Amino acid sequence: GRSHDLAGEVVLVTAGGTREALDPVRFLGNRSSGKMGYALAEAAQSRGARVILISGPSALYPPAHCEVVKVTTAEEMRGAVLDRMAEATVVIKAAAVADYRPSIVAGQKMKRTGPMTLELLPTEDILAEVVRQRRPGQLIVGFAAETENRLENGRAKLLRKGVDAIVINDVSREGAGFDSDLNGATFLTATTAIDLPEMSKRKLADRILDEVVGLRRPQSLL
Ligand code: PMT
Repeated sequence: GRSHDLAGEVVLVTAGGTREALDPVRFLGNRSSGKMGYALAEAAQSRGARVILISGPSALYPPAHCEVVKVTTAEEMRGAVLDRMAEATVVIKAAAVADYRPSIVAGQKMKRTGPMTLELLPTEDILAEVVRQRRPGQLIVGFAAETENRLENGRAKLLRKGVDAIVINDVSREGAGFDSDLNGATFLTATTAIDLPEMSKRKLADRILDEVVGLRRPQSLL
């Protein structure tokens, strides 16, 4: 059964989207609600893991008994993840982290004067840094939101980033992925591609954790 199969594990989950300020009242953000990451945190906790949930702004109540670290920007998310990852035995990165931030953050609310152009700078890649700092035995699972060539792009990302697995969402499907209660995905490792058809995010969280437990098991037991 699943009831205690994550006992002894410390699972660090990132959730939600980040926000990059433009001025004191405006930001660039994305549609991530935190539902997928919170579902993973709740599922891992109920299977006996200690859970550290690092979350961008989200309207959801964090699951009971999880340690919650709230962040806003990609840079804060990066700081929190690198600060806490040494404690984790499993890192699952379900957050939708901004890829770009405005190069200038206005000190005062910007006025509408005419056409304007925003200059954006790339943010630091958190997952790449997590892989560089990983300890032996630490499992790292990324997420990928792809709208085309899911398996090809996903496997390229897996190999390039050096993670153990990537959960590839098909975010082009109507009513699935960002903000929805449903999600479907492919759990991709270097050697396998497991299809996880559309289901509730809570169920999908348990299916993802089943695969994580499978990766944990010594090869001799497979
Ligand atoms: O929150 P919900 O509304 O429930 O929606 C869930 C979800 C669709 C957001 C989630 O399931 C998901 O797919 N999350 C990853 C979305 C994403 O940003 O994918 P990506 O392909 O842009 O990024 C790939 C990976 O790199 C992710 O693990 C991301 O956390 C990581 N990344 C990205 C940018 C960055 N600067 N640093 C990172 O580590």
